[in-house]
Amino acid sequence: MKNAALLLLTFFFVQLAYSQCPIIPRPQEYSQIDVKIPLDDQLTLDSNSMSFSTWEYLKSNLKQQTGIELVHDAENPYVQFGESPRLQVQGGPIPISHHYQISFNSNERKVYFETEESAFHAVNSMLQLIQKDGLKFYFQGSEVSDSPGFEWRGLHLDVSRHFYTVDEVKRFIDLMALYKFNTFHWHLTDDQGWRIEIKKYPKLADIGAFRDSTMMGHYSDEPRVFDTKKYGGFYTQDQIKEVIKYAADRFVNVVPEIELPGHSRAALAAYPELSCTGEQKGVPGTWGVFDDIYCAKQETIDFMKDVLAEVVELFPSQYIHVGGDEAPKTRWKKCPDCQKVIADNDLHDEHELQSYFIGQIDEFLTGKGKKLIGWDEILEGGLSPNAAVMSWRGMKGGIEAAKQKHEVVMTPTTYCYFDYYQSGHPSEPIAIGGFLPLEKVYRFNPVPKELNEDEQRYILGGQANLWTEYIASMEHLEYMTYPRALALAQTVWCRKKPSYDSFLSDFLTYQEDYLTRNKVNFARSIHQPILEITRKKNGINVHFKGVEENYHYTVSTKEIGGYSMNGGQAMGVEDTLFFERCYSGDKVKEIRTSVLDDSGGNSLVDRFLLHACLGAEIEMVTQPHPKYNNNGSLNLVDGVKGTQPWKGSQWLGFDTSYVEFIVDLGEVQDINLVNLGFLNQNGSWIYLPKLATIQVSKKSKWFLRKKYKHGIESEDCNITVGKKGRYVRVSIRAMDLIPIGMDGGGNTPWTFIDEIMIN
Ligand code: ACM
Ligand code: ZN
Repeated sequence: MKNAALLLLTFFFVQLAYSQCPIIPRPQEYSQIDVKIPLDDQLTLDSNSMSFSTWEYLKSNLKQQTGIELVHDAENPYVQFGESPRLQVQGGPIPISHHYQISFNSNERKVYFETEESAFHAVNSMLQLIQKDGLKFYFQGSEVSDSPGFEWRGLHLDVSRHFYTVDEVKRFIDLMALYKFNTFHWHLTDDQGWRIEIKKYPKLADIGAFRDSTMMGHYSDEPRVFDTKKYGGFYTQDQIKEVIKYAADRFVNVVPEIELPGHSRAALAAYPELSCTGEQKGVPGTWGVFDDIYCAKQETIDFMKDVLAEVVELFPSQYIHVGGDEAPKTRWKKCPDCQKVIADNDLHDEHELQSYFIGQIDEFLTGKGKKLIGWDEILEGGLSPNAAVMSWRGMKGGIEAAKQKHEVVMTPTTYCYFDYYQSGHPSEPIAIGGFLPLEKVYRFNPVPKELNEDEQRYILGGQANLWTEYIASMEHLEYMTYPRALALAQTVWCRKKPSYDSFLSDFLTYQEDYLTRNKVNFARSIHQPILEITRKKNGINVHFKGVEENYHYTVSTKEIGGYSMNGGQAMGVEDTLFFERCYSGDKVKEIRTSVLDDSGGNSLVDRFLLHACLGAEIEMVTQPHPKYNNNGSLNLVDGVKGTQPWKGSQWLGFDTSYVEFIVDLGEVQDINLVNLGFLNQNGSWIYLPKLATIQVSKKSKWFLRKKYKHGIESEDCNITVGKKGRYVRVSIRAMDLIPIGMDGGGNTPWTFIDEIMIN
């Protein structure tokens, strides 16, 4: 490493002006008292002051987190824990708000609660107030007055794509309870596996719970790779009851989801007579949306009612989720049985047929004293009278439902899909796509501005979803869920949340320790320095930005390929490196930076290519889609090539069939070869374009007629030019529409580009 340069980076943050808080979600009212209330090997409380299950919960969590023993003492408890007289406001008690209060100061150690549920919240807040000083634990002196702001604070778990055992599901619920989530949405059925025992239809579990193979790698990989081991599992009804009881002890309601009419291949593998074609097909081991869905005939509706009759017996939840999303109407259009239902009921089309289907189920569930909830597709073709809507394709569906006076849970992909990448760094494990860093989750507000005060009352709250196509283990599940679930917990607890900076500071000060104390495999993605790249004359500045006060990074750079870097060439001032573009005719140089954090771990490598248009000005004649426009045109010349697989942030994405941009090299140079990088991930509707055309000019953006054209057959496209010029016009022609039969058939393909290099 003769030429390697070492740089120590220190980050100073302005002193924060708010009181820090160890509790997340931060209570509605919190003030820190400058006193440490010492804790012994034993903590005494009056066990009669709370329910047996809350006592047991506190006892085991206290022991496991700190080793402290919870001991009953009715006479002289260390903490006074008791039910409060209901808060009185003028004229009478306020409605139940699950309020609790903690006063830990030099005079008193008191906890008051309004309901059993709020006693449980108080216990969790108390656990988070325990801090450590050397080897000694203490309560951080605090005044807390708190109650939840939303009634639906949810996490969802898909146990179909990958199966999680009863113990794993309990662990998932346990962690939810720490952060005051109260709704566990259990996605029990999908194409790739039916996971709940139904006594009347034993084949659902015997056949529908197992598949012969499972897709490995990413859906977009070519060729696709499969693991051919038998995979599956299901929960017996006794196990389901056990989970429900476990959750109830933690004040978590379990909402089951039984998908219909789509995502039903596992059920149809067991009972093919419920499909439109009757054809026997296995439980699929690949992801996606399938054409084969339940036939909308009466037999299916009867079957579904039988299944749900057992489900409503098992689950005390008022809400029963019946899916409703992503149900292609391909089979229904050609099925005589479905067409007969349409004709017999004067329905207009297959969307109304879906509404009819859902309506029958709604009526059944309502008759059983339950409420139907479904994904926002249930709005299409008319919303069933009692249905609640879970809005996932943005907030639009939820807004529409609230305006129609239906209850709504907000879970838009943009803020709530925890199967998306949480950082753009190459070290992130493979994910479905998309980009959802911690800060973005924190920006979520389940109540849209478009609703007036009256309509806003229909918003029950929010939820994050853990779809598990790419999450095959508990360890990985925790990594995807935490810490993002903490950001969500805050957004669904308080209607007025603190700033993100305040949240982040509390998280770094207290919650990483708390997660560690609870042995959570949480993602450290926010510790990875954010690369801030800016244009400079003849190159770029790369600034490594951290999240913490007094946190150090050591950045070393290494030249790959024999080029010798002279002295501090790659060294800028302090935390910023300058990379100079390498002129055409020279070989493209590669620099690797590795970053070590204070703990000596977390070594990261980033790879920069110093090509001839590094940092060049670009005029985007065609604008990228706002969702895939990270860093604008600089993205194309920032020296960082978009990673494979696509991680949601490093590419410029276009939803147009034609793309044009003009690069200004700053001075006339030899333009021998233009290299363009494209992405080919058809599963995400991203296709290679057909043709790239280059034009060059020396003096202005008026281009010579001479064009250099190149058909695009691979992700790496080289176009030979052999001319001098300063301006380079790049035009890219994609297919007008994706051919029918391919992923996204009939739609405009996405074109993803990164990077453009010239030499
Ligand atoms: C969904 O993500 N298909 C609800
Ligand atoms: Zn049919």
